[in-house]
Amino acid sequence: MRLRAAVIGLGVGEAHIAGYRAHAGCEVVAVSDVDPVRLEEVGARHPGLRLEPDPGALLDDPGIDVVSIASYDDAHFAQVSRALRNGKHVFVEKPLCLDPGEARQLHELRAAHPRLRMSSNLPLRLSPRFLAVRDALAADRLGRIYYAEADYEYGRLWKLTEGWRGRLPYYSVVLGGAVHVVDLLLWLTGERVVRVTAHGNRIATEGTRFRYDDFVIAVLECASGTILKVTANFACVQPHFHALKLFGTEGTFVNGREAGTLWLGRDDDPRAETIDAPYPGVLKGDLIASFVEAILTGGDAVVTEDDVFATMDVLFAIEHAVRSGTPVELPFTAQ
Ligand SMILES: NC(=O)c1ccc[n+]([C@@H]2O[C@H](COP(=O)([O-])OP(=O)(O)OC[C@H]3O[C@@H](n4cnc5c(N)ncnc54)[C@H](O)[C@@H]3O)[C@@H](O)[C@H]2O)c1
Repeated sequence: MRLRAAVIGLGVGEAHIAGYRAHAGCEVVAVSDVDPVRLEEVGARHPGLRLEPDPGALLDDPGIDVVSIASYDDAHFAQVSRALRNGKHVFVEKPLCLDPGEARQLHELRAAHPRLRMSSNLPLRLSPRFLAVRDALAADRLGRIYYAEADYEYGRLWKLTEGWRGRLPYYSVVLGGAVHVVDLLLWLTGERVVRVTAHGNRIATEGTRFRYDDFVIAVLECASGTILKVTANFACVQPHFHALKLFGTEGTFVNGREAGTLWLGRDDDPRAETIDAPYPGVLKGDLIASFVEAILTGGDAVVTEDDVFATMDVLFAIEHAVRSGTPVELPFTAQ
């Protein structure tokens, strides 16, 4: 029998429909949005789906096996909890939830339902450029990584000052933006973060209705001694970009807009190798096929439950470090 999927929240969630349809073992049966106009528009583009104005009706429906949650950030926790309690597999847009208490509860819920799979949408893991970098690391071409940095250069400040992000009771550029680059660094390097120092400011959105930091920088110390740096840089005046540099004892990788460069050879004239695999080169629903496969086979999705909780733990530690002005030890959520 094919899995029956539903999608809640139809902005980026509309791309999830194609993600489920990409796997033959799954069909999309229903969608929901609290905005009736959006619901009708998306329904018109995808005929034959049940259009449900009440997301709770889908979360409670025993006929639905798997649910995508792509509502605003502040709705994720309640919707994910309700879906898990009702025995559904969950693919949730980032961020999973908004604070460590919620993460602890979701961790417990997942542990109580070990058969259920849960994943989150961190599609940079499927970017052909970053997959090529991961291959280079696996082949030990960069040697031992001693420092890496990844910057989430958002370049769309209006989304904070005019869009839904600025209307929520709380919006975090760390949870909403840095999530992508923290996950990218943890996935590429396999490192475990043990201590975080972080700072933030809101110079660029001063005088607007957005009331939280729009820029955050964090230094992540890893168990191995490797140091990572991440920024959530929503205010930058440039097109959206994921800047990435990895410094190893044998080589350096630098991401560029057109191509990445791998510098090799420790002498006065290192040679440059171009990595021109597409970047980002991935669609927002592309991770879903691996998630469906994991449900059907019991294997791991590209983004596992442990990956999701590990990344969230680093993000919450960054947030706490910014607020407290002091370094934060990890694991943080479990404290
Ligand atoms: N993974 C990614 O790369 C990525 C990219 C963009 C957005 N997102 C995430 O997706 C989520 C939605 O962002 P978006 O850009 O699609 O916004 P959007 O405004 O384009 O669409 C969100 C939709 O969800 C609906 N909605 C809001 N609250 C709801 C609720 N409680 N129940 C049902 N529907 C609800 C809204 O009416 C809207 O139609 C956010 O959590 C965001 O962080 C992830």
